[in-house]
Formats: sequence, structure tokens, C-alpha cells
Amino acid sequence: MKTITGSDIEAAARLLNEGEVVAVPTETVYGLAGNALNTDAVLKIYGTKNRPSFNPLIVHVKDAGEFEKYAKDIPPVVYGLAEKFSPGPLTFVLPKKEIIPDIVTGGGDSVALRVPGHPLTQKLLRRIGFPLAAPSANPSGYISPVTARHVEEQLSGKIPYILDGGRCEVGVESTVIAFNEKEEPLILRPGGISFEQIAEVCSVVHPYKSTGDHRSPGQLKSHYAPGIPLHFGKMEELLEKYAAERKAVLSFTQAYTAGNIIAQEILSPAADLHEAARNLFPAMRKLDASGAEVILAEKLPGEGLGVAINDRLERAAVKEDKADPGSNK
Ligand code: TXA
Ligand code: MG
Repeated sequence: MKTITGSDIEAAARLLNEGEVVAVPTETVYGLAGNALNTDAVLKIYGTKNRPSFNPLIVHVKDAGEFEKYAKDIPPVVYGLAEKFSPGPLTFVLPKKEIIPDIVTGGGDSVALRVPGHPLTQKLLRRIGFPLAAPSANPSGYISPVTARHVEEQLSGKIPYILDGGRCEVGVESTVIAFNEKEEPLILRPGGISFEQIAEVCSVVHPYKSTGDHRSPGQLKSHYAPGIPLHFGKMEELLEKYAAERKAVLSFTQAYTAGNIIAQEILSPAADLHEAARNLFPAMRKLDASGAEVILAEKLPGEGLGVAINDRLERAAVKEDKADPGSNK
């Protein structure tokens, strides 16, 4: 299949109407979109990404007024949050209505809904009149794309069209939240809206926990992994431990000097977590292609967008105990 990249909303709309999948820009990362109400289109998304079908997809809608078409028993606080953060990088997990095919939700009875903020995709949603199921437009397990070029590099030949909306503003995926019986939000995946921002609207917010049941199915597996091993932690310790390897270094604010560093990316010299989030995935891609043997990635402050960045790096990292049993004891 020939893949065309362009900014023609009509072309994208026509393909989506025909049940095809198309890469679309959002303010977080590029999505691999198909008609959420068309089972065959949704199956194509899973196939193209090589994604396990138990991992549910986010359904993108044009505004929060659409939520009640696809979800029921919506807690009023959803509208308070949506007023502040939608369109934007916040996804709501709500009890699903029949109209959403089971394949979209991995067989589960809840649906994840989000209003994307990118103007091209907003226009597209208004043009087509159906919601778009869209996971990030990367092969399952690899780094998420934040430019049309990144999508081309991995999905060229597999999809007919990439709607090019430039580089994504936020750079990490949306925050996914669900609600408990007291209608308090639980963060299932940290992302572009921070815990602190949600806490401005809700007096009780249950923070993200990387272990336990309270997380998204997609948070269970290793993810975001580059081709070469990535190690995550305190940089001084990592540099000592991997002194002999040809290294690529991913740091927050400062350059490091040590032997065998062949490539280095600084996420934000000014220590701005928004800038760091925007630079994260492109930096990981560059270092992956640098010819280094390992990537050493520094842990960022655990506040604001730092929580989402640390989550992505942690899940990109080699699981030391499993990958290398018995060593370093
Ligand atoms: O920013 C984003 O969220 C991007 C853009 C394209 O919108 N999308 C994205 O989709 O990151 P994906 O499929 O890569 O990640 C969706 C996450 C997964 O962790 C998935 O398990 C979770 O949302 N999720 C989806 N539906 C869910 C549901 N019904 N209940 C719990 N978690 C759900
Ligand atoms: Mg993803």
C-alpha cells in the first residue's frame, strides 16, 4: 500500500468513511484512527499496530457534549473537569453504552473518551460525524510518534494516509482517569494533565500507582522501548555501573562528562517539565539511532509532568531482574 502524507482533511475523511485507518495529529502524540463504530475499521487498527486485542482503545470525540452518546452514568464532575481540560490531554473512563463495539473496549464494559485539542483533528471530527478510535500510531511496544515523519518511519506501506499536523505540542499521551463509587478520580495513566491540575478541580484525587489493579490494561506491559537497552535511574550511579559501555545519555537539565559517552540529549536546560515532555520521544528516537550500546536515562522530579515522563522512561527501561537474572547481586 502506498502511504501519502499531507494535510488534506477531505482525503482523510474519505478514507475514514470507507473504513480505512489514517494517522492523525493530536496535541499529545499521533494517533492511528479509525471509525470507532465500525468493527472492521477497529480490527484494522489492532492489526496495523500489532496490538493485543485485550488492550482497549481511546475514543476521540469533538466535544464533551458527545460523551453521553457513548457513555452512561456520567458523574457530574466529568463535566467540571472537561470544562477546564477539554479539548486537551485528559481521557475519561466511563461505563459504556451499547453503541460502542466490544472490540473497542477489549470486551470490557467501560469506554475511554477524549476530546483531542489539535485543530486539524478537530476539523476532521466535525467533518466525519463519527467518533475515532485511536491508539498512539506506533507499533505496539515502541516509542510513540510526535511528528508525521515518525509515523512514516514505522507505518509506511501499512496505512493509506498520514494527516500531517506538525509536531505535537504536549509530547506525552493523555492522562487516563476513572472514577470510584464516590465519584473521585483515580489516575490510571499519568500524562499531559498533571495530578496537581486535577486536584485544582477535585478535592480528592487518587494518584497513579505503578503497581496494583488501579491502572489501565495498557500499563501492564513493558512499553515505549527503544531498540537498544535503556537503563533508568540516578545518572551518577548509571554512569558508574555502565562505565565500560558505549553510552547515549538522556538527561533533564545538564550535560554529563564521562568516558564512552557518544551521544547526549538534554530534555530542558531551563528545567521546564513541559519542554522536557515535548522533547522526550524525539530524544529517545535519536539516541536509539546513535550507534550506542545502551541508553542511560535520568530520573526527573516526581511532580507535574515529571510523573508522566518518569512513567514512560521506567516502562522503556530494561527490567533488570528479568532480563539479566542473577547478575549485580
Ligand atoms: O494521548 C493519547 O491518549 C493518545 C492520543 C492518540 O489520543 N492515545 C493513546 O492511546 O495513548 P493508547 O492506546 O496508546 O493508550 C491508551 C491507554 C492504554 O493504556 C489503555 O489501556 C487505556 O488507555 N484505556 C483505554 N480504554 C480503557 C478503558 N476502557 N479502561 C481503562 N483503560 C483504558
Ligand atoms: Mg500507546
